[in-house]
Amino acid sequence: MRIGLLGAGRIGTFHATALAHTDGVDGLVIADADPARAAALAERLGAEAAVPATSVMSAAEAFAQVEAVVITAATAAHADLITEAARNRLPTFCEKPVALDLGRTVRALREVESAGTLLQMGFQRRFDAGFRAAREALRAGRLGRVHTIRAVTSDAAPPPAEFLPLSGGLIRDCLVHDFDAVRWLTGREVAEVYARGTDGGAACFREAGDVDTAAVLLTLDDDTLVTATATRYNGAGYDVRTELSGERDQWVVGLDDRTPMTSAEPGGPGAPVRPWSGFLERFDGAYRAELAAFVRAARGEVPNPCSGWEGLRALVVAEACELSRREGRPVRPAEVAERAGVPAL
Ligand SMILES: NC(=O)c1ccc[n+]([C@@H]2O[C@H](COP(=O)([O-])OP(=O)(O)OC[C@H]3O[C@@H](n4cnc5c(N)ncnc54)[C@H](O)[C@@H]3O)[C@@H](O)[C@H]2O)c1
Repeated sequence: MRIGLLGAGRIGTFHATALAHTDGVDGLVIADADPARAAALAERLGAEAAVPATSVMSAAEAFAQVEAVVITAATAAHADLITEAARNRLPTFCEKPVALDLGRTVRALREVESAGTLLQMGFQRRFDAGFRAAREALRAGRLGRVHTIRAVTSDAAPPPAEFLPLSGGLIRDCLVHDFDAVRWLTGREVAEVYARGTDGGAACFREAGDVDTAAVLLTLDDDTLVTATATRYNGAGYDVRTELSGERDQWVVGLDDRTPMTSAEPGGPGAPVRPWSGFLERFDGAYRAELAAFVRAARGEVPNPCSGWEGLRALVVAEACELSRREGRPVRPAEVAERAGVPAL
């Protein structure tokens, strides 16, 4: 299958390299708003890749020459590129989110629906070995009734200041992964959220109307209580952990000899020798697995593992948290969905 990759930045470079070694991919066309960036990546992959990856072209040219599309461009471009791909009847993988506002997200998803094409969203935790094992254990009843979930997403260091206004903020950019993971792990919906954020770090967060640290309390529709925290300042390293506590057992995703933590107990584990440095390293296997699944889904061999509507549901929770943080009150995601005219899902 010949794939067009649109967006040759941080994640695009990773995904292009992974796709070049993915079964079923026999050509890769790379486009970027900055043609020099696309050319540099294509040249690099041309030397390294198992498939030819030397073509550089505009998105429109790429659509005419490929059988599937992988969108790794900046977020603001996603909705238009998804719409174009749907109109060209191309199965599409898109990095999260579809858009930063719900109305635009719904319009793009309607285009995909009316074209009858596939749209897979990039929530890679669904392909991470630890998250998958935890889901299986939970669904098999090994934990008993799960009453509490504690999720952590901590970046080792802030992203470049210019990324912040484009990111949608810490909650939409980072915690949205926890919201998707909690829904996917438990099979439950979020009934209510309460969110707080703080800004003790660089001024660029305040200037962008963003926070550098956030904590949210989610109540699921079966009354399971979930806390999720995120920060851009975790000097110990990159930390993604999810603890699930049930009446019979307690499982944790992301606890291993690279977890950036030091036990305060005498004789407890010290700081890891090689803490996780960032998402590309921590989720290397998960990203590769989600792209392999996309190629198989695009060929009709497996069902779509994460539809655009799933991405929308996680975004609705993020929007509710943003509103809660700004207004200092509990918010039901249903309130946000109704206000934005999101159809009942
Ligand atoms: N799933 C994850 O863990 C994860 C991690 C990082 C980023 N992301 C998502 O991936 C996307 C890209 O993030 P990034 O960190 O790689 O950003 P980046 O800024 O490094 O790269 C974005 C690239 O998109 C290009 N671009 C912009 N508009 C374009 C258009 N219309 N057509 C083609 N190319 C265009 C830019 O020139 C740039 O090269 C974002 O939506 C982000 O939310 C997801």
